[in-house]
Amino acid sequence: MEEREKQLEKVRTAIEELPDSPLVEERRRQGYSPVTGEGNPYARIMLVGEAPGEREARTGKPFVGASGKVLDELLDSTGLRREDVYITNVVKDRPPGNRDPGRAEIEAYRPFLARQLEIIRPEVIVTLGRFAMDFILEHFAFPQAGSKIGELHGRLLKGSAPYGPVYVLPLYHPAVALYNREQRETLEKDFQALKPFVEKKNAGF
Ligand code: URA
Repeated sequence: MEEREKQLEKVRTAIEELPDSPLVEERRRQGYSPVTGEGNPYARIMLVGEAPGEREARTGKPFVGASGKVLDELLDSTGLRREDVYITNVVKDRPPGNRDPGRAEIEAYRPFLARQLEIIRPEVIVTLGRFAMDFILEHFAFPQAGSKIGELHGRLLKGSAPYGPVYVLPLYHPAVALYNREQRETLEKDFQALKPFVEKKNAGF
């Protein structure tokens, strides 16, 4: 089988070569890059955000702006580094003005995240915000699909992927923690549900 790096490279190329759509036209107009994803292709933990912001689209890297700083602090609090995980988004091009991605946009990028999941086969998927939560819970036909993030955040949900068991940890988006102290505390507390997986990694599994 091809190495995962090569398989992920093909996903990147396919995104780069996407035919025109409003988000791809915006990418070209602004000189942005698509944000495919970054990290360890063999990671057991995958983090999925919503869509790139301005700084991400300028650099082609996920979570490098203000939300990324919050994410780095959360990772650090559990002893994880970016190199230990794989980070990507549901939508790979920036929606102008940081608006929410539309239904059709989410659908247009669906095959790419689906393929990344097949390649990386994560044991735990951390969803950041409601768009990522809805996508992942629907994708793996979790019975909780369609529930509100207020009900599911911080709960480690067990389900099954075609490649084996999978856990999903829905979290609020790190952007909510930027201006709201209470939400930040919730996020910090919720993130600790990842700890058992980190300890397993350090134990050499
Ligand atoms: N917000 C996201 O959802 N993803 C990023 O990559 C950056 C900000």
